[in-house]
Amino acid sequence: MPTVQACLFDLDGVIVDTAKYHYLAWRQLANQLGFDLTLEQNELLKGISRMESLEIVLGIGGVKLSEEEKLKYAAEKNAQYLEFCKQITPDDALPGVRDFLDELKEGAIKTGLGSASKNAKTILTNLDMLTYFDTIVDGNRATIGKPDPQVFLMGAQDLGVAPEHCVVFEDAVAGIQAAKAGGMIGVGIGQASVLTEADYVMPGFDGVTVKDLFDKLK
Ligand code: BG6
Ligand code: MG
Repeated sequence: MPTVQACLFDLDGVIVDTAKYHYLAWRQLANQLGFDLTLEQNELLKGISRMESLEIVLGIGGVKLSEEEKLKYAAEKNAQYLEFCKQITPDDALPGVRDFLDELKEGAIKTGLGSASKNAKTILTNLDMLTYFDTIVDGNRATIGKPDPQVFLMGAQDLGVAPEHCVVFEDAVAGIQAAKAGGMIGVGIGQASVLTEADYVMPGFDGVTVKDLFDKLK
């Protein structure tokens, strides 16, 4: 494996568990439109942009809307989501992730955020983690969603690191596909049975040291 010079992190599901809030907000919208959304269906929305997620939700309910209505409902969902996110505090960073980022800093390994979310900076601010990243590529900058590698390639370019020297941490299938399409090393956060295309899978960062992980990637 080439030496790791940069680590790029997805936000939702890697740094913080916001999937529960996305789910509650989408479910509320679905209920308003006359159908329900299961947790299993919510899996389809992980890593997917807001408007693409809305299309999937509407498809599940068999609901057709005009473009104007779609924008209105997406804005409503987002307002509700942000309301839930107000309760996020620094204690909500997923176990071990802050220590892992500190260790990367000590090892002079560059760090970046690569997220489809347009709310990434708000959530990082609530976590008090905005300064942990040398670059942030979020849904306001990236124009093409995962599994396209754009979001991670932009991050690598910002950091001046070639893709093969980047490790991407991702909880979504589409995110691992994006990392691999960009020629990067993809570390899955979750279950190996789900993240089958990842180079390595771990349940989270709890107890994981940078050295141990990089040894495993060799
Ligand atoms: C991703 C989430 O990180 O961001 C998706 O996994 C979400 O579930 C997407 O739809 C867009 O988020 P936001 O905050 O811009 O609506
Ligand atoms: Mg994610």
